[in-house]
Amino acid sequence: MTTRRLVLSRSATLIGAASSGLLLPTLARAQSNKIRVGLMLPYTGTFAQLGVAIENGFRMALDEQGGKLGGREVEFFKVDDESEPSKGIENANKLVQRDKVDVLIGTVHSGVQMGIHKVARESGVLNLIPNAGVHAATRALCAPNVFRTSFTNSQPTLALGKAMVDKGHKKAVWITWKYAAGEEAFEGFRDSYTKAGGTIMKELSLPFPNVEFQALLTEIAALKPDAVACFFAGGGAAKFIRDYAAAGLKGKIPLYGSGFLTEGVLDAAGPAADGILTTMHYSDSLDTKRNQAFRLAYAKSFRLQPDVYAVQGYDTGLLLVQGANAVKGDLSNKKALYAALEGATIDSPRGKWSMSKAHNPVQDMYLRVVENRENKVIGVAAKALADPGTGCRLG
Ligand code: PHB
Repeated sequence: MTTRRLVLSRSATLIGAASSGLLLPTLARAQSNKIRVGLMLPYTGTFAQLGVAIENGFRMALDEQGGKLGGREVEFFKVDDESEPSKGIENANKLVQRDKVDVLIGTVHSGVQMGIHKVARESGVLNLIPNAGVHAATRALCAPNVFRTSFTNSQPTLALGKAMVDKGHKKAVWITWKYAAGEEAFEGFRDSYTKAGGTIMKELSLPFPNVEFQALLTEIAALKPDAVACFFAGGGAAKFIRDYAAAGLKGKIPLYGSGFLTEGVLDAAGPAADGILTTMHYSDSLDTKRNQAFRLAYAKSFRLQPDVYAVQGYDTGLLLVQGANAVKGDLSNKKALYAALEGATIDSPRGKWSMSKAHNPVQDMYLRVVENRENKVIGVAAKALADPGTGCRLG
């Protein structure tokens, strides 16, 4: 009798707890069984358009799979990181601790990436980097759960120096934003340009994301270099291109850049961008079926022309699809998941690329020139370029 009453009252408590909602979160999650994907990207500020292009590309790759990953439905969680490094850790934790995402896709800005990187290393959550090129993420601080689908900051500029010297430009000025991406892009430029016999007359910089270029452009005019090379991106890049022309430098001192300078900004920059030469792992005009099909589908879906950021977002989706398929949607099977990501070859609109041991793309770099609001390929500046992955001990 006593035992029976006890059993009854226990089950009554359980039913009570369930109906009052106390047990519901666990039940609901087990039942929904969706893969939780966190997007941490800039949706405001100078890189806002980059974040949108990455998200579009990523969603497009998943849509090609009926919106599923390894047979499972997907639920999205989003945070605007504002390209603000001081909030990087807090924002990454919103996705990892609060939303309990299975994978964190992010981000664009190298400084913010370092916040994500700390959270990824400490929590072990899978992090796919769709842009930020900060060296440490795939060099000394590389991690088994962190994979980059974009580039390291010095990869594009490692292909730039020789192209400039080949055109006869032996004395150059470098200009950029003073933060990791600009400084590391400079490393690639310095190494390739000096190795090819060029001399760097001066390094100029301004804080990110400032766009008061006037005094620096006046200094460039006074220095009279053979050419200028730079790293700028997003809204700031469009303004730099226009200001360069307005200062009377266009047509007098050729402008070169890490290819981000002319990505996603050609409508905003207008004719001021014509003739700019850049090196990059993608070009609008790549004459392959893969690229043309991608560009058409993207334009239809989003009523926008894709750029390198859209491609990187798309490739991030392709990589995650490959990984999720290999483990039939069970992303907790980390050993098999990471092995699939490490061994992946991505059939990208940029051309096929593979993952280096340090988890960064091994890829071709194209030399491009802007003509009529398009980046036209004029050659391959570096074939199968790998970042050295210095200090990384994986695999
Ligand atoms: C970066 O901060 O790593 C970064 C940002 C924008 C780019 C490229 C690199 O276009």
